[in-house]
Amino acid sequence: SRLRPIVVGNWKMNGLKSSVAEFSRITEGYDIGLRAKTDLAICPPFTLLSTFAVVALGSRVLIGGQDCHRSPSGAHTGDVSAEMIADTGATHVIVGHSERRADDLDTNAVVHAKARAARRAGLIAILCIGESEAERDGGKTLEVLETQLAASVPDGATADNLIIAYEPIWAIGSGRTPTLDEIAEAHAHIRHQLVLRFGDEGEDMRILYGGSVKPSNASDILAVENVNGALVGGASLRAVDFLGIAHSY
Ligand code: G3H
Repeated sequence: SRLRPIVVGNWKMNGLKSSVAEFSRITEGYDIGLRAKTDLAICPPFTLLSTFAVVALGSRVLIGGQDCHRSPSGAHTGDVSAEMIADTGATHVIVGHSERRADDLDTNAVVHAKARAARRAGLIAILCIGESEAERDGGKTLEVLETQLAASVPDGATADNLIIAYEPIWAIGSGRTPTLDEIAEAHAHIRHQLVLRFGDEGEDMRILYGGSVKPSNASDILAVENVNGALVGGASLRAVDFLGIAHSY
């Protein structure tokens, strides 16, 4: 069965109150034709979550956080819990983005705990994995993906509470992407691991590709087998680009 895709925009540390206008253009562009083809979500910085959730009402554009704390509440100055994110009206949260895994901030064990925290709060975790350039060059890509999946995806994950995002670190913000064959190989390997561990449920888990997705390469990438959507950084900041990517379906 062909899974319903989702195109997710990760705004990273970008966006001010004045960005509501651009976000409104995204909600307005999510018309009936596009809704029929794909889910759409934007993950703004925490400061804009509540505002965007209100702007998105009625549009069916989904809202997500970019990270959450592993604990439900407590003395964690500066952190935001999964429950707080859900409380804004958000439905999704990214965990384990490579920019947070960098320097060992988010180890696989931490990402595992964050994915569990997301599930407890009723959020869908968008869990990121991906190899570095050195690992790719060393022929270690599939091995790295396997290790990250095994150690960061919690037991009991389902297609309703977990989405995997494959993001080769060297493709993020670089304008470089793997070849379509390389993307297909990585996604097939991820699918295989998910099915080995979760059985039929693993067939229904969505696997997104992320890393330099833009309107000009989206239709090729989104057509690759086992690519069930995209996690878009830079090109999600402008409605015309983000909608252009979604329109590639
Ligand atoms: O979460 C998004 C990814 O890091 C991709 O970023 O589209 O700017 O390469 P990018």
